[in-house]
Amino acid sequence: MDYDSFLDFYRDVIDNTAIKTFTLAQELYELYRMSYFMCNWEKNPLFFDDGTYDGFSALSMALGMKDAGSKGILISVDNYGSNGYQYDGIGLDGVKRECSKYPELIKYIDFIKSDDLNYIRTLSSNSLSFAFIDSWHEYDHVKKTLLAITPKMKSNLSMLCGHDYSWSECGVVRAVDGWREVNKTKLWAFGNSIYSIWYSVIREKQ
Ligand SMILES: C[S@@+](CC[C@H](N)C(=O)[O-])C[C@H]1O[C@@H](n2cnc3c(N)ncnc32)[C@H](O)[C@@H]1O
Repeated sequence: MDYDSFLDFYRDVIDNTAIKTFTLAQELYELYRMSYFMCNWEKNPLFFDDGTYDGFSALSMALGMKDAGSKGILISVDNYGSNGYQYDGIGLDGVKRECSKYPELIKYIDFIKSDDLNYIRTLSSNSLSFAFIDSWHEYDHVKKTLLAITPKMKSNLSMLCGHDYSWSECGVVRAVDGWREVNKTKLWAFGNSIYSIWYSVIREKQ
């Protein structure tokens, strides 16, 4: 799907649902493309969306899965404000209701109410093909998230990425740069877009 077609989807969500997002349309398109790419690599992947908010990142990832003909599953986790984070979204019931306006996308998504670190600890090692980190942006939390999720990423090939790699006062840049330094032997590629998505391709040397 080209960017113009993605924008039609983006506008449809904004115009016809209660879903809001802090993530730019260009960034959601990047998420779509990375998701599509990973589904072409692996047909039954497990994807992870850390920080559902109203579900827009999850829908964009699911669109990539659909367009690639994937049989994968996307787990989208949010604690919906139960840790004191100022959540002002539509809540888990609202997310399920609004995203079900896209039945061909929601069928990929399992929306779960949980603290992200607690949920990540339940995942099997070497199980995730793709993960997008966009929950609490405070340095310690991003650092702990990256530490917890790295062993869960598939070491033969997976993509780990996140939002707000520009928001240095909140700690995302420092946490991601520290993680990158420690894990450099596992990284095949690392980059950041002209917007604020950072991404890495994990491929450990065999
Ligand atoms: C920036 S928003 C996510 C935006 C979403 N990815 C999008 O593209 O529309 C961050 C979300 O992370 C959630 N969050 C914050 N701390 C969390 C935690 N410890 N565990 C799970 N979710 C958390 C918040 O409730 C909020 O909905």
